[in-house]
Amino acid sequence: MNMRQETRDHWKEATALLAGGVSSPVRAFHAVGGDPVFLVEGDGAHVRDASGRDYIDLSMAWGPLVLGHARPEVIKAVQETAAKGLHFGACHPLEARLARLIVDHHSAAEKVRFTTSGTEAVMSAVRLARHATGRNKVVAFQGCYHGHADLFLAAGGSGLATFGLSGAPGVPDGTVDDTAFLPLDDLATVRAFFDAHGDEVACVVMEGVPANNGLLVQDPAFVRAVERIAHRHGALLLLDEVITGFRLGPGGATSYYGLKPDLVTFGKVIGGGMPLAAYAGRSDLMDLLAPTGPVYQAGTLSGSPVALAAGVATLETLLSEAPWDHLSHASSRLFSGLVNSAESAGVPFTGQVMDSIVWGLFADGPPPVRPDGITADAVARYARFHQAALRNGVYLPPSAHEVSFVSTAHDDAIIDETTERLGRAMDEVGA
Ligand SMILES: Cc1ncc(COP(=O)(O)O)c(C=O)c1O
Repeated sequence: MNMRQETRDHWKEATALLAGGVSSPVRAFHAVGGDPVFLVEGDGAHVRDASGRDYIDLSMAWGPLVLGHARPEVIKAVQETAAKGLHFGACHPLEARLARLIVDHHSAAEKVRFTTSGTEAVMSAVRLARHATGRNKVVAFQGCYHGHADLFLAAGGSGLATFGLSGAPGVPDGTVDDTAFLPLDDLATVRAFFDAHGDEVACVVMEGVPANNGLLVQDPAFVRAVERIAHRHGALLLLDEVITGFRLGPGGATSYYGLKPDLVTFGKVIGGGMPLAAYAGRSDLMDLLAPTGPVYQAGTLSGSPVALAAGVATLETLLSEAPWDHLSHASSRLFSGLVNSAESAGVPFTGQVMDSIVWGLFADGPPPVRPDGITADAVARYARFHQAALRNGVYLPPSAHEVSFVSTAHDDAIIDETTERLGRAMDEVGA
């Protein structure tokens, strides 16, 4: 059976049995076309599909694998813990061990609560903020993603006083009535919104660095001003560090921007590739959670020992190796290689690099700071580029809106090989 046929067979079976063929929508490749790839093995910077084809990976499971695939320290910790039993639904010493690593390195984390997904972490932190302030409204920013809890599935409002109107089927308008999505990089609108509604706002939720609609790096002055305005009006700052936590250095975006968030969320890196996330923050707030306080949140599989073991091994390895310079070097080397290839291929190309996060956009001019800068033409070009990249042996995230990640396993030789392969893909897009 040829490889293409084998993938088709897997996909046929998946679409017959799974909703949309997938466990999470973007994996169906609708944004880039072609049949999805079934990845079954990973090693360092490489992944292998079900038919044995090898790719250099730039998606890295959407961000958790900062140490690369199947890092021996992490796999050993998982295997040793799993061998003793998968889950007990009781207290486990690894909970405090991982919490200690978080509390010792992240200035906003005084106490921690583990969850299974980032969605749960942000949703629960908002519940806590609402109780703590006695207010209901939540301010978020257009183009940012905080998981799929109902309250965040509001249509990106058009600015001042635009409260959520649900944009999502199945989400009643009432659920998002108190969510306001304001434009990024627009302090005047934030100020005007707080002037009108400031005493009703429970929290401002902000991604450490917006990285779910391209990499929309904000002016640090904007980020700090949002924090100041929120606090001046008695609202909490909930910094969503699901992507940036332990990726922009151990202190995440909190330390990068010198912020003092009241609550912070983690996911991805702290679970090292296992289903684990957390919310954390000021002790007085975290003590409002049940059982010490009245705010309820729970989970059968919360604090899974195997996931905690992966998290502890990942953070301990990261902290002892401190590979931040290497990661920045790798992503910058990759990005400049792509800029050169785009120039030779005659295709418009811009983008951003921040630490180990890389994002390229097929457009001219400076990189956008708001999601509306991602044009239909750039999206269509990315779809062709994605398919060409696969043919040339590079696995990119299957959407123009998603960022790429490099890991400690992406050394110079691998980055140069990636650049060469993506250069060929760029030529195909340009042709
Ligand atoms: C910033 C941010 N917050 C929350 C989430 C939701 O996390 P999860 O997919 O684990 O539910 C994501 C997921 O990509 C994210 O990037």
